[in-house]
Amino acid sequence: MSKREFRIWRGDTEGGELTDYQVEVNEGEVVLDVIHRLQATQTPDLACRWNCKAGKCGSCSVEINGKPRLACMTRMSTFEEEETVTVTPLRTFPIIRDLVTNVSYNYTKARETPAFAPPPELAPGEYRMQQVDVERSQEFRKCIECFLCQTVCHVIRDHEENKEAFSGPRMFIRAAELDMHPLDDRTDRAEQASHQQGIGYCNITKCCTEVCPEHIKITDNAIIPMKERVVDRRYDPLVWLGRKILRR
Ligand code: SF4
Ligand code: F3S
Ligand code: FES
Repeated sequence: MSKREFRIWRGDTEGGELTDYQVEVNEGEVVLDVIHRLQATQTPDLACRWNCKAGKCGSCSVEINGKPRLACMTRMSTFEEEETVTVTPLRTFPIIRDLVTNVSYNYTKARETPAFAPPPELAPGEYRMQQVDVERSQEFRKCIECFLCQTVCHVIRDHEENKEAFSGPRMFIRAAELDMHPLDDRTDRAEQASHQQGIGYCNITKCCTEVCPEHIKITDNAIIPMKERVVDRRYDPLVWLGRKILRR
């Protein structure tokens, strides 16, 4: 057991500030354990969102020493003994109180992404697909909706004005997953990503991939292939000719 320095953002929609605490830390603990100890011993009104404490619900997302992380999966042994651990709310979303932000932007963007659309002639129960197709998009279904990728992406992190046009990396993996789905045939996901989800704003910084706790290769396996498909369509001479003819 040792005493460690913590600095936590306290405040609400009106504003706030970083507040210092000295708190006991035991071997093997994670940042969320320490936040719970602070609530139990020093500041019972400290607001923090969490649920599973197992890296699976995606609720405890915060920024620790400036990096978006899950508080329940960040071991205290990550930091030097004398290092102050600074915990702040996700910067990209509006504050509700202390470490809790309003992440409804992500739900709005999810609603804007057209749902899975199987062929109308098939009834539920008649859907069939090959195992290889199931496995292809398995990686994207590991998403726990922690929105760490969304908060770190500079397109909206520093530019509130881009939020309307940009759905963010979490929604791009959803589009890529449905694009690979052999039974999803009513929506052109690549065109949708280009025209409605703003995938063109992404300049492949890969910060989203770096912070993903599920190690989903967001940029390499979802964003880049989707971008390539849009470019292929636009610049493929056969597609170009086909469009010209159809427009006549
Ligand atoms: Fe979180 Fe990764 Fe899903 Fe983004 S893609 S919401 S970082 S699990
Ligand atoms: Fe943003 Fe990821 Fe692209 S962080 S810029 S969506 S590679
Ligand atoms: Fe569920 Fe951290 S509490 S992911």
